[in-house]
Amino acid sequence: MTTYAYSSESAAELKVGLLIVPVFQGPKPGPGVRETGLAKVYADAKHTGKRGEALLVPRSDGSAADAVLLVGVGPKDELTVESARRLLGRAAATARRFGSVATTFPQAFASRDAAEAVQAAAEGLGLGAYRFDRYRSKKDDGSDLKRIVVVGSSRWEARPLAAAVKRAAIVVDAVCWARDLVNTPAGDMPPAEIAREAQRMARSVGLTCKVWNESQLDKGGFGGILGVGKGSVNPPRLIELTYTGAGDAAPIALSGKGIAFDSGGLSIKDAKGMETMKDDMGGAASILGTMKAIARLKPKLNVIAAIPCSENMPSGSAQKPGDVITHRGGITSEVLNTDAEGRLVLADALAFLAERKPELIVDTATLTGACVVALGMSITGAMGNDDVLIRDLIAAGDATGEPIWQLPLHQDYRPLIDSAVADIKNIGERWGGAITAALFLAEFVGDTPWCHLDIAGPAFNERGTDLSPRGATGAPVRALVRFVLDRAS
Ligand code: BES
Ligand code: MN
Ligand code: ZN
Repeated sequence: MTTYAYSSESAAELKVGLLIVPVFQGPKPGPGVRETGLAKVYADAKHTGKRGEALLVPRSDGSAADAVLLVGVGPKDELTVESARRLLGRAAATARRFGSVATTFPQAFASRDAAEAVQAAAEGLGLGAYRFDRYRSKKDDGSDLKRIVVVGSSRWEARPLAAAVKRAAIVVDAVCWARDLVNTPAGDMPPAEIAREAQRMARSVGLTCKVWNESQLDKGGFGGILGVGKGSVNPPRLIELTYTGAGDAAPIALSGKGIAFDSGGLSIKDAKGMETMKDDMGGAASILGTMKAIARLKPKLNVIAAIPCSENMPSGSAQKPGDVITHRGGITSEVLNTDAEGRLVLADALAFLAERKPELIVDTATLTGACVVALGMSITGAMGNDDVLIRDLIAAGDATGEPIWQLPLHQDYRPLIDSAVADIKNIGERWGGAITAALFLAEFVGDTPWCHLDIAGPAFNERGTDLSPRGATGAPVRALVRFVLDRAS
């Protein structure tokens, strides 16, 4: 547990393990540097304030902080909130060793950007300090970040900035929980366990949660969720969450692909292709995290979520290429490739959500390798039937440093998913795979404004980033929370 606080104390008086202060290109001392008396030490180390050039100075002279980390941030007029978030994310590894941290970074920004900068600073430190060591017999190094203090200018009004820190704490908690769900091996996180996690979360934050089991799914006509789950000994579930913040207004509807493990099914993947497929419930985890944050932030609107969870395995009971399934609502699809399973479970969930007449639907899914080919590891692909909605999601992504890029829902490709025997088939041709997957989903939302976010790249990172160690990233929880909050204001 990390605690978060906002302060406007002088940098020299902060009693913390590590104090992190920015140095501009030059080097020119940034906020808090003079108070530490270390401007000359940084220059004497022949550092120039270039972005990322950091100097750690331990203090045994009775200073309030045990150590100071002077971080080069580049030219003052080029420093962005996103850059600050990432630099602090990187510094979080050092902060962990000292147990508690304070930073004056937000004071490098103008007062009109203070709230954004304060939130980003707290997020950077919180996200960068995340570790997943549940499965290590020896915990990494025993270090842990217990306290984060964001230090603003004494000229700034404290109340909105304390709220920004609180917001960051809630967002970081939601992202890290989503990461935990994804990082947990599929052997320990079957559909029923994802559902139990959802129920525990719902209870702790006051959300309504209903979990549909196999026979209920059968009665409800959820042929896609059941068809994909048929080959596994771990039965599927549908998780339904409800947040009420605005009486009976039409809700925002969210869905996320929850494939506990994607072996490909009978259209089996090769060994390499399966290595990271515990992450195939990254969409589900991102929606669970988003709902957790929303429940704690309490925006004045309504949000519902339907999260389909199945495990895609080959076996004697698995669905077969050529099988036809009937989705919720009656549309039939021919399963020509059992590895294109995400769209099958999402189809049911989207149809179910559309029945509720929501204001809009957003889904997240680790849906296609094609999207990773198109946009790489860090960019989410957006496709949908409503350009304003897509624009708003892209804006939320830009504001939170989770980039989203629109791909066209190109109607000329729609005939590629025509089936010889059913209403549609679950694969197109090799080319444009992210788009034909989205065209499949589009069949199930009717005329509800809808946007699909393909997070096959950003959900999981095998290298690690400034804000996330190797493994699950928790994307795009931050963008989604931002999107929902922006709609409420
Ligand atoms: N879960 C995969 C997509 C994926 C691939 C996510 C790589 C993350 C990294 C999805 O279920 C899948 O297998 N998609 C196929 C679709 C194809 C069979 C039409 C793909 O992308 O190859
Ligand atoms: Mn697959
Ligand atoms: Zn999949």
